[in-house]
Amino acid sequence: MAENFTFYAPTKVVFGRDTEQQCGALVSECGGTRVLLHYGGQSAVRSGLTARVRKSLEDAGLFCAELGGVVPNPHLSKIREGIALGKKEGIDFILAVGGGSVIDSAKAIAYGLAEEGDVWDLYSKKRKAKACLPVGVVLTIAASGSEMSNSSVVTKEDEDLKRGYNDDLCRPRFAVMNPALTQTLPDWQTEAGCTDILMHTLERYFPAGPHMELTDTIAEGLLRTVIRNAEILHTEPDNYDARAEVMWAGSLSHNDLTGCGQLTRGDFVCHGLEHELSGFYDVTHGAGLAAVWGSWARYVYRDALDRFVRFAEKVFDIGVQPADLEGPALQEAREKAALAGIEALENVFRRIGMPTSLTELGLQVSEEDCRRLAASAAAACGGSKGAARLLYEEDMFNIYMAAR
Ligand code: NZQ
Ligand code: ZN
Repeated sequence: MAENFTFYAPTKVVFGRDTEQQCGALVSECGGTRVLLHYGGQSAVRSGLTARVRKSLEDAGLFCAELGGVVPNPHLSKIREGIALGKKEGIDFILAVGGGSVIDSAKAIAYGLAEEGDVWDLYSKKRKAKACLPVGVVLTIAASGSEMSNSSVVTKEDEDLKRGYNDDLCRPRFAVMNPALTQTLPDWQTEAGCTDILMHTLERYFPAGPHMELTDTIAEGLLRTVIRNAEILHTEPDNYDARAEVMWAGSLSHNDLTGCGQLTRGDFVCHGLEHELSGFYDVTHGAGLAAVWGSWARYVYRDALDRFVRFAEKVFDIGVQPADLEGPALQEAREKAALAGIEALENVFRRIGMPTSLTELGLQVSEEDCRRLAASAAAACGGSKGAARLLYEEDMFNIYMAAR
């Protein structure tokens, strides 16, 4: 059943080898003249990427200021530094060279430069943005989908608060995606990225209730493709074609394509639970998602049983056996298939080196810690969240406890 929807994906995608050489032309096309080149800790400088991008900008006659040093789970203090630098230099375009952390930092700087007021007010939901400077992206890790998404997630590091703000204003004008740029990633980051990509589609896949057949089929194809290529990359990190599959999947997984026509905008409880983990403990986002997903799924699967049964069948070829059951026996067999599907995905996580518990993630979390995490997660979403099943603070606490 098709619900009404708006699909808005204004980002121009320029995909393939050497595409970063087009940055100057792409920024000019968008009307940018004074560019802030924004990047992370080391990787993009070390590989020579920032120098190549800078050359492309300068060859196009553009002014270029630089601000590096964005850390994973990007800090508000760096964003404030970027806003101050942007004002001083009269910046009119932000070019992010990096992954989700750099892109989200760039989006926050772009909000901060477009209008007066404290940019954290957006993330603490005190106000909505009215404007945002244009942002472009050179993607170096397939993961967050921020290169096409309307979202940015920022950490206020002095309060351990990680909060997101969603607004179409920040959707990047262009995204340069050269899969070869991701070949320098450590395996852990590659696989955490693949997990995040899977999760962006899974969050949209499990809401109970009607879904569109086409959307489901695209989602299942994406999940199968990412699982297959994540396993390839675990042993063949230089496989360009596998990198390309995963990179394109990362964008499609979070540009809303795999949520079109659904009754709700998705579940996103696992993301809510994970953002608390990365806010408090600074863990890698994708790994944090892998650590809580199984516990969440076992907590809610009976409430969205049709979806979990379909997931097992379409993604892992696990059918309800035998096919001719009825009544309680059928119900039992369906639950068994759903649980087998959950376990199959956890086994994928294990094969690609991702954690399936908080302990495996490296965290020793006490009952009291779980209370604190659940209270913060519930506060961040206004008390309740979830579309597979609506969950409250006590449910979130139970899931953290089960995930230990
Ligand atoms: O800082 P450098 O030295 O570049 O190292 C980075 C970083 O340590 C490294 N890296 C990136 N590209 C590389 C590379 N290392 C070698 N070669 C390369 N080509 O990878 C590490 C992780 O980078 P990061 O940008 O943090 O990764 P990711 O893209 O997974 O982004 C994670 C952030 O995005 C947010 C997450 O919460 C997290 O803060 N998310 C943003 C979303 C959005 N805006 O739509 C949605 C997501 O659900 C997510 O919440
Ligand atoms: Zn994510």
